[in-house]
Amino acid sequence: MAIFQSPHSGLLDRSFSSLNFEVSHRLHIETLAHADRPWIADDGQDVISELSGVPKTLPAKYFYDDRGSHLFEAICDLPEYYVTRTEHKILENCADELAALIGPCDLIELGSGSSFKTQVLLEAYGHNNLPLRYLPIDVSGSMLKKSALGLLEKYLNLDVYGLVGTYDAALAHLPTPEYAKRLILFLGSSLGNLNPFECDRLFSQIADALNPGEYFLLGVDLQKPLPVLEAAYNDSKGVTADFNLNMLRHLNWRFGGNFCLAQFEHQAIYNTQAHQIEMYLTSLCSQSVCFDSLDWTCQFHAQEKIRTEISRKFELTSLKAQLQNLNSLKHPNHRLQPVRVWTDPQQWFALVLSQLQPKE
Ligand code: TRP
Repeated sequence: MAIFQSPHSGLLDRSFSSLNFEVSHRLHIETLAHADRPWIADDGQDVISELSGVPKTLPAKYFYDDRGSHLFEAICDLPEYYVTRTEHKILENCADELAALIGPCDLIELGSGSSFKTQVLLEAYGHNNLPLRYLPIDVSGSMLKKSALGLLEKYLNLDVYGLVGTYDAALAHLPTPEYAKRLILFLGSSLGNLNPFECDRLFSQIADALNPGEYFLLGVDLQKPLPVLEAAYNDSKGVTADFNLNMLRHLNWRFGGNFCLAQFEHQAIYNTQAHQIEMYLTSLCSQSVCFDSLDWTCQFHAQEKIRTEISRKFELTSLKAQLQNLNSLKHPNHRLQPVRVWTDPQQWFALVLSQLQPKE
């Protein structure tokens, strides 16, 4: 069965009757199977297997229920969380150059969320009179639709083709390009949340999705002094702690669990060897947690940690080497060649533009 539903299958979202035609005819949303409920295929076996491991871990996808998505937006505005505003500033500084370099394009964004940062690029295309089609990809259909409508009302020449689903499925089924070049965006240092193996896999999928000469723009967080890093993930208002603990609330709701949030504590520690922030939920006492709908109980000893997320901090030379060394099944004789890097004055964050080019 094709996971991707064709725009002509009648499953295309046409529920825009209350919108004016002018806006709705510039919006298409395709929904991949189960994309509106990314956990539907999940019977909770991933929770059982990760909590049975040593050390215990949990899948990061459980961060993002409605409350989690709102808390994440609040994290992005925190004074300690330099990531979002630093990347935004770099984008503002390079957007015109980027638009001129790439020209008319299909702009494909992995994990578009609120599309806030993307607007910098849309503006640059607009005032340089360059045409563009925006293809946001997100697992949250409601978030995607809401931000797409906001953009269409603001940018009167914009077309939006949203893909609701996982990166895997969307990258494998991108629609026929409208313009000469495509640019895939992966911002917010979300790459840092993938381990090196997952990172290589994503780069290969991106190279497979592109045609030679097309582009990939990656936002990555760089190594920096430890106090800055630790503060960014241990903010003084406790929003990050709330976000981390919310995963337990989400599991309680989804699998009939009885996690007592007060018996767990948020911790974010920088692992200097692995160059990554590690996010944990530490059990404050010896306790057992039951999941009614999984018919399963999990034991915790006092001070036992669950690792919920990693956030890797990169070094540009090795990152560029990793981009160049990837194996693309579809383009075995090509590689992602970094062609331009933009950073901030403190070199805290980088935007790396790569192009699919023939291997030398
Ligand atoms: N991509 C973000 C980052 O690595 C995600 C993030 C920020 C995050 N703060 C967090 C994930 C706290 C889990 C917990 O910076």
